[in-house]
Amino acid sequence: MSDFDLVIRNGTVATAADVSRCDIGIRDGKVAALAERLTGGREIDAGGLLVLPGGVDGHCHFDQPTGDGSRMADDFRSGSISAACGGTTTIIPFAAQAKGQSLRAAVEDYHARAAGKAVIDYAFHLIISDPSPQVLGQELPALLRDGYSSFKIYMTYDDLKLDDRQILEVLDFARREGAMAMIHAENSDCIAWLTEKLEAAGRTAPRYHATSRPAPVEREATHRAITLAELIDVPVLIVHVSSREAIEQIRWAQGRGLKIYAETCPQYLFLSEEDLDRPGFEGAKCVCSPPPRGKDNQKYVWEGLTGGVFQVFSSDHAPFRFDSADGKHAAGTDAPFRKVPNGIPGVETRLPLLFSEGVIAGRLDLGRFVALTSTNPAKIYGLYPRKGTIAVGADADLVLWDPERRVTLTNALLHHNVDYTPYEGMRLTGWPVMTFSRGELVCREGVLEAAPGRGRFLPCDLPKPAAPRLGRGAYY
Ligand code: URP
Ligand code: ZN
Ligand code: ZN
Repeated sequence: MSDFDLVIRNGTVATAADVSRCDIGIRDGKVAALAERLTGGREIDAGGLLVLPGGVDGHCHFDQPTGDGSRMADDFRSGSISAACGGTTTIIPFAAQAKGQSLRAAVEDYHARAAGKAVIDYAFHLIISDPSPQVLGQELPALLRDGYSSFKIYMTYDDLKLDDRQILEVLDFARREGAMAMIHAENSDCIAWLTEKLEAAGRTAPRYHATSRPAPVEREATHRAITLAELIDVPVLIVHVSSREAIEQIRWAQGRGLKIYAETCPQYLFLSEEDLDRPGFEGAKCVCSPPPRGKDNQKYVWEGLTGGVFQVFSSDHAPFRFDSADGKHAAGTDAPFRKVPNGIPGVETRLPLLFSEGVIAGRLDLGRFVALTSTNPAKIYGLYPRKGTIAVGADADLVLWDPERRVTLTNALLHHNVDYTPYEGMRLTGWPVMTFSRGELVCREGVLEAAPGRGRFLPCDLPKPAAPRLGRGAYY
């Protein structure tokens, strides 16, 4: 009998720490050996290819209820297939609590939506919109023990936002219990006020979405989030950071030794407010929050990635079809920007975009690419070292990557259920050719090779990066 079920031979194996030429022996879905000249059951020659830990997408939305007549285009089936074909092997979408709803009920509903559909492994973040004493005192502690150790809170959106007092209560809970808090930082009142002014002036086209949420709106909320976190002495992660001004706030906080983590997304590197001004209603394709900024802002987002302000690069895949009455046209084909569903697709293009424009363009080394897209989110959300690295004992979640493949992005290449990609026509170098989840080939050259439903739910540990700076004692 052979020692391994599968051996991946001759590849260049890259983790966040090292790049080396070696073979990978896989047994029972886990990495069992890293060495030269391994032989085993099935052998795959990865000569000329990189072998990377599968991507961990720490921020994506699938089949999340919306409440405004729109519907997310991807469920766990299409969303996870799309993720896998783009080189991602773990997805972490959100079980969202509606105000007044039990958080446990939200989690159970979300499990029902996921059941039997995912082709890769998945964990859940929670979204807390109603931090009642019952939720903070009873439901959340039990959920944490069951493996839901990160949650997102919102400073904007009427149906989700928390006020500062509520944010303090939630951050106090995160500190006490060791959970990772993620914060959507935009000032809600500023947005509402600007939106009213713009509407009164008849400025309702998609491009005014950006005018209604300018950089100071994000800067103020980011600073406030940092201040509230400092007050409680708790680490937080600011999600989908878009602007130079917010990046400056985070850099300032990190420079003071605060544990402020930050995430950015492809839309802030590759889209700009010009894309919101595409002809007709086409700009709606790029409506997301925070909005893409001016083209000159992109270099500051790159600096945040290369200089270490950002630890995580996620897709924020929020899929709505364009030409559809339950997508971007939910409020009509010429709806005011306020009524356009927020979000853009990107779970499949996240890794190829960053690899091409980051690694091939010489901005990022391979280790940093792996850290941003796989290792760091696995650590920050309590999945490491099961996920996010190539090491003996880790799940054999691997992507074989052709660093020389030239691809012109077009929606027909992609596997999501969205009728567009905002990145149509972009020319990229580097592409995933095979994706393995727990040693099983899930897709090869964009063709699905495994059965939906094989993906498992991943209970998350308490994340080590969520430990407070001053230890567990009282902070006041
Ligand atoms: O516009 C966006 N980003 N939609 C997804 C929801 C969120 O706030 O992340
Ligand atoms: Zn958000
Ligand atoms: Zn999101």
